[in-house]
Amino acid sequence: MNADAEPYLQINGQRRLVGELRVNGAKNAALPCLAAALLSDDASRLRRVPHIEDVHRFLDILTILGVESEFTDDEINIRPSGVCGGAPPDDLAAALRASFLVMGPLLARTGQASCGAPGGDVIGARPLDVHLAGFQALGASVESIGGRTIAHAPNGLRGATIVLDYPSVLGTENLLLASVLASGRTRIVNAAMEPEIVCLAEMLNSMGGRISHAGHNTITIDGVERLVGADHELIPDRIEAGTLLIAAAATRGQICLRGVEPVHLESLLAKFREVGVSIRRSDDELELSLDSATSLRATNVQALPYPGFATDLQAPITALLTQAEGTSIVHERVFENRMQHLDELRKFGANIIAGGSVSAINGPVRLSGAVVRGTDIRATAALIVAALAADGESRAYGIRHLARGYADLPGQLRTLGADIEQVPRLDTLTN
Ligand code: EPU
Repeated sequence: MNADAEPYLQINGQRRLVGELRVNGAKNAALPCLAAALLSDDASRLRRVPHIEDVHRFLDILTILGVESEFTDDEINIRPSGVCGGAPPDDLAAALRASFLVMGPLLARTGQASCGAPGGDVIGARPLDVHLAGFQALGASVESIGGRTIAHAPNGLRGATIVLDYPSVLGTENLLLASVLASGRTRIVNAAMEPEIVCLAEMLNSMGGRISHAGHNTITIDGVERLVGADHELIPDRIEAGTLLIAAAATRGQICLRGVEPVHLESLLAKFREVGVSIRRSDDELELSLDSATSLRATNVQALPYPGFATDLQAPITALLTQAEGTSIVHERVFENRMQHLDELRKFGANIIAGGSVSAINGPVRLSGAVVRGTDIRATAALIVAALAADGESRAYGIRHLARGYADLPGQLRTLGADIEQVPRLDTLTN
């Protein structure tokens, strides 16, 4: 066996997903909450943290900044008393988008911060202008040199009204992290409203911050001088939950997800109703039940900032819509290059016509097993959904992307009855 062989997922499709499981804490809440721990000298504890690569890489960054941490089960204990500045090494900055979230806390606490170009999924240009304009509004000087951002605020940050050009998720988070210790009042206008923003604000408030209206389009922050440690539980991962529900629908399954927040998934649940997928919901559970005779109906989807349909579920639902009767139109309106899964879906036999950020999916089509490659976290998830629905054996490469964002999607699917295994590549099959 070649030790360098690239691992892939081998999936035998058309197994109905049946069963129940509890979803993990949210990836995109874990990262800003880890950054928040930099804002206090006290220890903090985060609960319900998913074991994903991006969390491990963020902890590597914190270690370099002088922060000790222990990750056991789903809890992280963070002791930041040694924080004295520094910057993420360029390779770690480039490993994930959220590396840039150290900027806000370091600027607030030390008056200076720098970070190399942040990486993450290649799904569009992903500029940083919203973050930088916000730091400047708070009184920092900012320069970009060779992809590195350097910010200085030797006299501290001052509260200000910041009007975001776009409701950027990480931009809003970075400005919350910077302004919570600024002098006076900050207003973030046209703020992102994602549940992960609310999760971060609740953690900061539990540390002594004074943030109101997180989750609305204008957030008010009254700066405080000092924050204490937090003991904070992350919200459930709405994208993991959505992916599992979509996978279950694609196999005409019957699954119950526990420990979810149904209100975070309203836009997906509305699409399920239009498509003909019935869901029973309670306070913290979602149960999907479909039988093989149910035919699904085409629908139209526009990926938008929250509470619109989540861009992170755009690729997975496209895979499901190959099984719906009629023509579905999917319009990606958040990222300009998030349609890379379409060529791969066609390898299963999907009938998709696309131009720019719009695709037309004609269904239903009987999908056949294929050898495919995921290019980012959610594109890879979409290919798994297609493989689960397809007749025969599939191989999905690019699974390092999956590990960045899902704690154990293959394991969860196996628990629900899928025939899915990670294997090393044993032959010279090209893809
Ligand atoms: N944008 C700007 N200027 C900026 C920042 C963003 O023009 O300064 C644009 C982007 O180019 C993009 C749009 O705004 O077109 C949205 O970007 P946003 O900043 O909101 O995205 P993000 O904060 O970089 C987070 C998630 C993504 C998720 C998006 C949208 C994290 C770590 N990442 O990214 O998650 O897709 O919000 O909801 O929270 C994923 O989990 O797979 C993932 C990519």
